[in-house]
Amino acid sequence: METPPPNIARVYDYLLGGKDNYAADRALGDRIAVALPQVHLGVQQQRAVLRRVVDHLVREAGLRQLIDIGSGLPTAENVHQVAQRIDPETRVVYVDNDPAVLAHARALLADNKQTVVTGGDLRHPAELLADPVLRDHIDLDQPVGLLLCGILHYILDDEDPYAVVRTLVDALPSGSYVFVHHLITAGPDVDADVAEAEAALRQGVGRGQFRSHDQVAAFLDGLDLVDPGVVTVTEWRPDTDTLSLETHPVLRLAAVGVARKP
Ligand SMILES: C[S@@+](CC[C@H](N)C(=O)[O-])C[C@H]1O[C@@H](n2cnc3c(N)ncnc32)[C@H](O)[C@@H]1O
Repeated sequence: METPPPNIARVYDYLLGGKDNYAADRALGDRIAVALPQVHLGVQQQRAVLRRVVDHLVREAGLRQLIDIGSGLPTAENVHQVAQRIDPETRVVYVDNDPAVLAHARALLADNKQTVVTGGDLRHPAELLADPVLRDHIDLDQPVGLLLCGILHYILDDEDPYAVVRTLVDALPSGSYVFVHHLITAGPDVDADVAEAEAALRQGVGRGQFRSHDQVAAFLDGLDLVDPGVVTVTEWRPDTDTLSLETHPVLRLAAVGVARKP
């Protein structure tokens, strides 16, 4: 039987040490890791900041509803696990456009009434918001945490990512929060090792678009930025010693920010 071509969610799963991947995903993951040995650190830190953000949104901001778009294959410490450990009543909707992700997530979550999974494409935000699964589970009159972790860089400029985010944010009530994690270009004046890491990562991501720090911050325009603002992944409310950007250039290649809708 022919194995399927590589896909984003499974390559990411492989780089995280997961088992839900095929030969082509592993081959691409290995090629990325040869070109960019720190890629494992990059994906682990992406998961780590997602956990810290969810903890913040539920514990400190008091949210009890989360929409996670581009949720990916279930792995250790998923959004619902972090949120529901703080309050088991927290409702979570996972949205992804990859059928393999949806199948895995549905199997894993069959017994969890507070968490649902639905198919949807971020490029069609109005359809996504009208999805009956989402509407049954999330009360759009109550504050929501919208998680866009590691997905906006897959939306190309001509697919109008800023309008996508605006449509979603417009549908949320005041007191809602948005989290963005986005791969960034480190800029022209960086050391050779950072430039090399960026080239390797770009090749690995394939379809996608790196943006500047300011372009990432612009996704949160009109909202109140939560401290410390738009920063690198390890700088966002670290709970352990912050890894040095000097010795871990891959960490310069993503920016994150959380903001509250006034
Ligand atoms: C790199 S994974 C990120 C997983 C998780 N959010 C995290 O940060 O750990 C990106 C996910 O986005 C999904 N994805 C990519 N483009 C999408 C789109 N246009 N609409 C919905 N999901 C998308 C992929 O299927 C994949 O599961």
